[in-house]
Amino acid sequence: MNGFEYPENINIWLSIFIEKMEIHSNNIKKIFIIMFMMSNVSVAQSNADNDSFTNQQNSTEIFNFGRPASKKEIAEWDLDVRPDGTGLPKGKGTVKKGEIIYASKCGFCHGQKGEGGINDRLVARIGEEFPNEDQACGFQCRTIGNYWPYATTLFDYILRSMPMNAPGSLTNDEVYSLSAYLLYLNKIVSEEIELNSENLKNIVMPAHDKFVVDDRLDYLVAH
Ligand code: HEC
Repeated sequence: MNGFEYPENINIWLSIFIEKMEIHSNNIKKIFIIMFMMSNVSVAQSNADNDSFTNQQNSTEIFNFGRPASKKEIAEWDLDVRPDGTGLPKGKGTVKKGEIIYASKCGFCHGQKGEGGINDRLVARIGEEFPNEDQACGFQCRTIGNYWPYATTLFDYILRSMPMNAPGSLTNDEVYSLSAYLLYLNKIVSEEIELNSENLKNIVMPAHDKFVVDDRLDYLVAH
């Protein structure tokens, strides 16, 4: 929402206002409430107008600051790797290199072997099942080894958002190496693998078949 947003707690304000003004007549209270409801409608309308206004105009003209993002800047952010591997960049990485990068950039949050620390555990315990909702550890139980359905989106996630304190700072090769290392720790690839866009997209993750396509919307549309 770009336009003015009506405060959510306006109803509380309204009742405080009525109390403070010591308005005891029910009829006057009703008039205030009707006025409030009418103003709400016009605010909703102006919110809608504002949205289309900002869509049509450049924010530089409206607010007199900022500038349009350059093609290069957009390209730097416009990264997405799909489950089937579309969008995977060129590059390669090894478990050994990944281990070194991981130790200096990831371990202090996720544990030196991905066992979890101040942030999420990344490596499943040996033989661990797909975690179910009732487990006390909840989301902390879900790891690359027992929960991620695709290796491609793991690459995508690291490239886009990790390390959390400096997202976007890793090169493609570094992300291939980190993916290789984390997949190795989860016993999904061998220590010797040299990961690249071709072999990454062919990796079948242990949790791949635990997910089902949600076809409820198709069902509703068809009936
Ligand atoms: C400053 C702490 C910090 C550092 C450093 C860090 N991470 Fe994370 N990482 C997080 C947090 C917090 C989350 C959870 C984010 C969320 O759930 O939105 C996370 C989530 C992840 C996940 C997804 C876990 C899951 O199963 O949902 C992966 C994979 C990951 N990090 C990899 C890395 C890698 C690789 C590095 C090093 C390049 C790294 N992280 C560095 C804090 C960190």
